[in-house]
Amino acid sequence: MLDAMARRAAASLPIHLDLQSGDDLHEQIYRDLRRAIIARILRPHTRIASTRAMAADLCVSRTTTQLALDKLQAEGYLITRRGSGTFVAPELPDPPLVVAGPPPTSALPAPSLSRRGAQIVAGRQIARRVAGPARAFRLGVPALEQFPSTLWARLASRCVAAMTPRDLDYGRGGGNPALRAAIAEHTRSSRGTRSDPAQIYITGGAQRGLELLGRMLLDPGDRAAVEDPGYPGVWTALTCASAQIVPIPVDGEGLSVAALERERGVRLVCVTPSHQFPTGVRMSLPRRRALLAWAARVGGWIVEDDYDCEFRFGAQPIPCLQGLDADGRVIYVGTFSKSIFPALRLGFVIAPPALHAQLIAAQRTMTDPEPPHLDQAVLAEFIASGQFARHLRRMRGIYGERLTVLDDSVARVLGGRLAMRPTRTGLHAVADLIGVDAAQVAAESARRGLEVMPLAAYALRDGAADNALVLGFGAVPPDRLRRGVEDLAEAIEAVERSRDPAPTARRIA
Ligand SMILES: Cc1ncc(COP(=O)(O)O)c(C=O)c1O
Repeated sequence: MLDAMARRAAASLPIHLDLQSGDDLHEQIYRDLRRAIIARILRPHTRIASTRAMAADLCVSRTTTQLALDKLQAEGYLITRRGSGTFVAPELPDPPLVVAGPPPTSALPAPSLSRRGAQIVAGRQIARRVAGPARAFRLGVPALEQFPSTLWARLASRCVAAMTPRDLDYGRGGGNPALRAAIAEHTRSSRGTRSDPAQIYITGGAQRGLELLGRMLLDPGDRAAVEDPGYPGVWTALTCASAQIVPIPVDGEGLSVAALERERGVRLVCVTPSHQFPTGVRMSLPRRRALLAWAARVGGWIVEDDYDCEFRFGAQPIPCLQGLDADGRVIYVGTFSKSIFPALRLGFVIAPPALHAQLIAAQRTMTDPEPPHLDQAVLAEFIASGQFARHLRRMRGIYGERLTVLDDSVARVLGGRLAMRPTRTGLHAVADLIGVDAAQVAAESARRGLEVMPLAAYALRDGAADNALVLGFGAVPPDRLRRGVEDLAEAIEAVERSRDPAPTARRIA
């Protein structure tokens, strides 16, 4: 009885539905019919029952049988003749290729990578992540639940409808012209860049831009300076170029140009002057001038990574380094990962004109193919229609509120043990731990399901980072931030109880 209920067979067709398999019924009908056609049980020119008759026979809906026949027709197994019905095609499509044996297993020996490949695999994790919605204090992502998906879907459908055959071709080099124009205008007014659309080169996120610049400007073994502590994604990009990474200390005014001056033969330096990652320091104006003077003197390149500076809380905007550069030594790298969403994978480089021309020439050799055209077109519309500026304004309010919640909760629950540094930009804050070790607190926090990084996770040299935590607040709703601070307090207490000797904090002024 159960078997009769669980299975249904068609009287006139080789179809046996298994109602308990969990597979879609239309997929089962499609599979059985296709198998019968390939095995010549249903021969070419055989007439197939109508969708209505088949549905009645199998006790399924007509939509189900229609879906199965549509797929067989699309794949070339069936044809319809107007007025006379559906038939097995006279010429069948190529039979599916079936390769014997299971896929290779992980028991196979590990492939031997290049030294560079091995270095990349062994690279530093950028942030701790627990699967699921953002935990306190997730780093590196915006408030994704606030993204205006309906608006984006409307723009996307408009862009798809407007696509011409030209838009389906390989890109013309440098990226969608409308997007380049929109970015040039936006960054001129919001970031103080000196930019013309002809200098903009669209990339698959900042990371692809950094990798491209490393590959184009550095030879293997060339010396490239980075901030220490700094952003591990930059180290990876430079490793891809087989560059020699030279760590330069960061103090209260940003990267130490005096320390950079002491290094010989540095060809390129990567900096985050508007909001140093991870310390949050903003590079002072004298330091910016000194850095530009260094580049002009040695003929070096400055790569300015301006990753999250659309979000300011009460801080006066100061022009980016690229806007102060009169010698064409600064290459600006921007991203939409924080201002829109990271899976968009769109960023851009603003390059001095002569370098831009070389990047376009290189793109013709497929070193860095253009990101998907449709995504670029939607983003261009989003910016040009004013929706981007509106989204940024709304998100600034949300992030400002989250930062206040974090600051207040830490002061209330953890005053005296964790000191928040003033945060005026971006989506993460830095907090100094007093009397307990940050690495131990981060590990104890992880056991309690928090996503907390010690500042030292971003240091290349011993002692380059203070005894502090990096706390992301942008992705975390206020109630989860409040609870997170309470859980963090318990983690700190647990470490204090274990009474390990704590290091003395060295604070960035
Ligand atoms: C310092 C820094 N630069 C760049 C990026 C963004 O990279 P992408 O555009 O590849 O997502 C991040 C992301 O976390 C970052 O923290």
